[in-house]
Amino acid sequence: MTHASGHRDQPQVAVLDYGSQYTQLIARRLRELGVFSEITPFSRARELLGRDDVRGIVLSGGPSSVDDPGAPDLDAELLAAGKPLLGICYGMQLLCRRLGGAIEASDKREYGPAQIERLARDPLFEGTPDAQPVWMSHGDRVARLPAGFVALARSQSIPYAAAGDPDRRIYAVQFHPEVVHTEHGLTLLRNFARGVCGIEGDWSAAHFVAESVAEIRERVGGGQVLCGVSGGVDSTVVASLIDHAIGERLHTVFVDNGLLRLGEADEVERNLNAFLHRPVRRIDARNRFLSALRGVEEPERKRKIIGGTFIDVFKEATRDLGEVAFLAQGTLYPDRIESVSINGPSHVIKSHHNVGGLPAELGFELVEPLRDLFKDEVRAVGRSLGIPGSLLMRHPFPGPGLGVRILGEVSPEKIELLQRADHIFIQELRDSGQYERIWQAGAVLLPVRTVGVMGDQRTYEAVVALRAVTSLDGMTADWARIPDDVLARVSNRIINEVHGINRVVYDISSKPPSTIEWE
Ligand code: XMP
Repeated sequence: MTHASGHRDQPQVAVLDYGSQYTQLIARRLRELGVFSEITPFSRARELLGRDDVRGIVLSGGPSSVDDPGAPDLDAELLAAGKPLLGICYGMQLLCRRLGGAIEASDKREYGPAQIERLARDPLFEGTPDAQPVWMSHGDRVARLPAGFVALARSQSIPYAAAGDPDRRIYAVQFHPEVVHTEHGLTLLRNFARGVCGIEGDWSAAHFVAESVAEIRERVGGGQVLCGVSGGVDSTVVASLIDHAIGERLHTVFVDNGLLRLGEADEVERNLNAFLHRPVRRIDARNRFLSALRGVEEPERKRKIIGGTFIDVFKEATRDLGEVAFLAQGTLYPDRIESVSINGPSHVIKSHHNVGGLPAELGFELVEPLRDLFKDEVRAVGRSLGIPGSLLMRHPFPGPGLGVRILGEVSPEKIELLQRADHIFIQELRDSGQYERIWQAGAVLLPVRTVGVMGDQRTYEAVVALRAVTSLDGMTADWARIPDDVLARVSNRIINEVHGINRVVYDISSKPPSTIEWE
């Protein structure tokens, strides 16, 4: 599988991921400061060597101890490359260790707010007070600095809260400048990116659009691109970007797989046609998906079947168009990585691509212009492309759709039941003003029946679970605190209006350890 390459003309501060739960925040903060930033797993650090666009590198925190056998390491060549480096937490310890300093394991972890005191004037701390609150989260600490390093700040419990070798442009901080509790953390990151690495800091959503368009043109050449759209934010933004880049060589296809929400297919077609330059081609593949899923219960198999069927439908759709080498997808950064890394560097967990489990042999080259962005950044890009706010604020919806919200085998009857329950839920959330404060909501049809009583009759019917979460990026999530009266209305309406459902439950699990979707 080939991906669109990064934005190689845009100067950036690269972030090396050593497995901290805050890694993605570092890249985000830099981008908020107008400095482009992408994340690379520590194991692929060598790929950054010799890249002119990489003007500096941040080493993230991580859960390991530097001297543990098999602990994530730092390539000596990278140390010798002469690029500015900033180590954070584990990154600090690793830098100091590899440059000849000493690390000591401490018997007590320091976790939470702390106060640091500056010890020297340095560009890294430019514009910040002598004493300032920071956020600490570490066990080990630096006990002796490498030659050439000077101590820049200390805290009550550690002598080296920040240190550096300004001549070599290598810096290290024990605290986390990327979290909001470090009051002057943004200033520090800005000082590193601008002052130390020399990046202007004028990156923005509009830049992203211009660069993406140029990059797509270069990548695709005179070729044709198929873009599967779902009506969601990500695929809409991708279609719009490619529309700008290559015009009529883009073929936008909307596959109705029968696993969409109530009335969604028509709505999506209408919305997209309102602002794309050429009409979307809608393909009715409902029967095809349903037959492929008949008798299948296992979640991963369902995902694979749905993914495979999408690709088959795409291929057939391009048959009369001549050679179509590229398939565009709205894959985002969180789609590509582990949600929270507990035991090591964030690594790929899910084959959970936009259309579900994609087959290994695609027959298309993937174009994924949003692959390094977070949802709110995609929304900002969408706004700068003129996409209507109502569309940009839609909740995420998984590519495999209701296929992964009907637990067990999928059937037309179950789809209809779930669509009607889900519709009531979403409608009530909108009417009560809850929709916008929730990251994502939907109903899930459980594969059990329970006993109830309606009038004087015993019922033995299906259970629906309501799922609603708050989140910043879908990587971690908490169950949404929906007011009781809203939940009560949803439950009453579903049980009264949807025949075949006699019980409604509310999912109160957070992610992790649960996930947002049940399958
Ligand atoms: P989980 O269930 O992993 O979901 O907590 C995280 C986010 O990803 C969405 N999701 C998908 N999106 N194709 C998609 O485009 C998929 O196969 C898929 N599976 C899950 C999910 O809805 C949530 O927003």
